[in-house]
Amino acid sequence: MEIFDEPRFAWRGAMLDVARHFMPKHDVLRFLDLMALHKLNTLHWHLTDDQGWRLEITKYPRLTEVGAWRRESQVGAVRDAPGDGRPHGGFYSQDDVREIVAYAAERFITVVPEIESPGHVQAALAAYPQLGVTGKPVEVYTRWGINANILNVEESTVTFFRDVLDEVVELFPSRWIGVGGDECPRDQWRADPRTQQRMAELGLTREEELQSWFIGRLDEHLAAAGRRLFGWDEILEGDLAPGTTIVSWRGMTGAVAAARRGYDVVACPDDQVYLDYRQSDSPDEPIPVSIPLTVADVYAFDPVPDGLTPDEARHVLGGQANIWTEHADSPRTVDYLAFPRLCAVAEALWSPAGRDYADFAARLTHHLTRLDALGVEYRHADGPLPWQRRPGVPGRPDTRQQRAAHIARLVENIAS
Ligand code: ACM
Repeated sequence: MEIFDEPRFAWRGAMLDVARHFMPKHDVLRFLDLMALHKLNTLHWHLTDDQGWRLEITKYPRLTEVGAWRRESQVGAVRDAPGDGRPHGGFYSQDDVREIVAYAAERFITVVPEIESPGHVQAALAAYPQLGVTGKPVEVYTRWGINANILNVEESTVTFFRDVLDEVVELFPSRWIGVGGDECPRDQWRADPRTQQRMAELGLTREEELQSWFIGRLDEHLAAAGRRLFGWDEILEGDLAPGTTIVSWRGMTGAVAAARRGYDVVACPDDQVYLDYRQSDSPDEPIPVSIPLTVADVYAFDPVPDGLTPDEARHVLGGQANIWTEHADSPRTVDYLAFPRLCAVAEALWSPAGRDYADFAARLTHHLTRLDALGVEYRHADGPLPWQRRPGVPGRPDTRQQRAAHIARLVENIAS
């Protein structure tokens, strides 16, 4: 018998957020094993955010001495949700990272690191307040959601982040290096006379251009090191260097715009492959956020958006599922969110278009036996097991209509 099989996409990924909740090294290695089992080949590793800085940087030790630890964590997704009163944290030493990257490589997985900028940086500001617009001391953020405290645009801050990226490039052989760029509220830049003066010096009139300028300074540095900048679709709101790769998360608008403008794209539309989203309408789902995404919904994922020419479509490198962990405070909860939906994503990224869900569902039954044998605490088709529930912890469910309207407002500034 001869079997001919090859993947449809080169980028078959999962994004794992270890900033909101730290995942110990052992569990990251286990996650890589599970990725390899599903022929996923790219781990987009979200290492820094407002709530934690997880990567040791030898030049700036306070990033992890201070930035890796927070006083407590918000419990639940509502605005006035209480804190748990319990410190949380952890980080990866550079030796840990070398081990993880080598372990991944042995399994043909590339680890693409992400260092967020110029927003989602409050943990860094807690360690080095001089990086912030206000310069005032802040603590590592204990709430979820978007944060107003962003980087200033001084030359010293550009240098700081370039120094960080120098260590990142040493540790990670990946061709792509993530610099974030998403959800950066520019109110502090607007209100700050020094930032306005800096914009004038640089000949810029809009804060969006300032963000592009900042990202561009990091891009020059990465390009000089032979790497490619990887950033969320918000960075399409300004000018970008050729060779940038866009992670399109706000639906497919960014994927279409990026491919048309000649940038490579990784698709991860939130309404299809955000695995932190709830898995049903049942009140038993643990801390339910956003819209329900079933295994069947996820299986329907196609990273190539409609309406592209064949030349434009060639810019779509593939796709990934994103596992944000605000509400996943242990690797066991990550199992519940990821599996079996990640199995469906893996097949959607490997197999030709025109797949049959009924066929997949029949095969999944057998595959769940394998996951059982491996101790994966996946979600059962009939809902969470008693210990997987979080009774009394409110989430923030949306309808599809509400979610679509929200995303439509967010992408208004993307020019195709
Ligand atoms: C994102 O979900 N903020 C990329």
